[in-house]
Amino acid sequence: MQKNFESAVIIGGGTMGSGIAQIFLESGLEIVLVEMDERRAQSAYDQVKAGVTSRLIYENNRQQSPEVQKAAGEILSRLTTRVGIPSPNGPWRPDIVVETVYEDADVKSRVLKEVESTYPDCSLLATNTSSLSIDLLASRLARPQNFIGMHFFNPVPRSSLIELVAGRETSDESVESAQALVEVLGKESILVHDSPGFATSRLGIILGIEAIRMVEEGVASAEDIDRGMVLGYKHPIGPLKLTDLVGLDIRLAISEYLESKLGPRFAPPELLKEMVARGDLGKKSGKGFYEWK
Ligand SMILES: NC(=O)c1ccc[n+]([C@@H]2O[C@H](COP(=O)([O-])OP(=O)(O)OC[C@H]3O[C@@H](n4cnc5c(N)ncnc54)[C@H](O)[C@@H]3O)[C@@H](O)[C@H]2O)c1
Repeated sequence: MQKNFESAVIIGGGTMGSGIAQIFLESGLEIVLVEMDERRAQSAYDQVKAGVTSRLIYENNRQQSPEVQKAAGEILSRLTTRVGIPSPNGPWRPDIVVETVYEDADVKSRVLKEVESTYPDCSLLATNTSSLSIDLLASRLARPQNFIGMHFFNPVPRSSLIELVAGRETSDESVESAQALVEVLGKESILVHDSPGFATSRLGIILGIEAIRMVEEGVASAEDIDRGMVLGYKHPIGPLKLTDLVGLDIRLAISEYLESKLGPRFAPPELLKEMVARGDLGKKSGKGFYEWK
């Protein structure tokens, strides 16, 4: 089992990859962040830099200062952004590789296979898929025992959870290594066996679509349903506001996917389909269950 993590390769420097790179760097690891072209690599670097700097400013009484700049420089000196997966350099190999490219099984499989052949000695390979089957991705790999789902949450630096998803072939050693890494990152994990929607999306979507059905049936307003869950059940945010933040189109896609895998209890409500068809996608379009300025 891997206990000490000193270096990682992260593939994909978008919303999630840049957040994951940030927390790895803040935990002392050396990071290579891989993108598809120079423009995206630069944008990933800028996102990580902004994240690292704003965290330091926040921790430093919300003041920019020479100390903040120095500390940011030290952290960022351990970050390399580049195009293409780097070949191993002498005995160097990453302690873990995290794949966080587009949510497409074929794209992910291509990347994961290349990682396996580039680093035959790397014992932990993780995917940040939010919905694809770990067993499906593992079936295309030479060493599925080393492969695990590490489902990070957005925004990564502020979320305390990492959902670990073990496939049929994932070894106990890989699970323990991933759990050790979560500790290094100062986060907490839950362990789930590969299943559609894992644990979090499966339960989260049920709450979300039931709340939408209640709006549809006129049971209560969106505001009151949300207030009920926030005040009565201590949820940090109501299910309808959360749906607006995630995006109604994303929620619809997850709901349809889970309906196809788990049955009609996950069928999307008519109101959700109508709102997506009208372009009311939530915060990103300015209107969902709430108006967003
Ligand atoms: N956004 C979320 O809220 C969220 C939450 C949890 C998990 N996820 C999962 O994380 C993954 C990434 O999502 P995201 O929101 O960061 O997407 P994104 O589109 O912001 O980023 C994906 C990045 O991968 C890069 N990429 C694609 N193919 C590549 C390749 N072959 N080599 C190197 N880079 C490549 C793209 O250029 C892009 O920058 C997906 O699997 C998604 O389901 C997303």
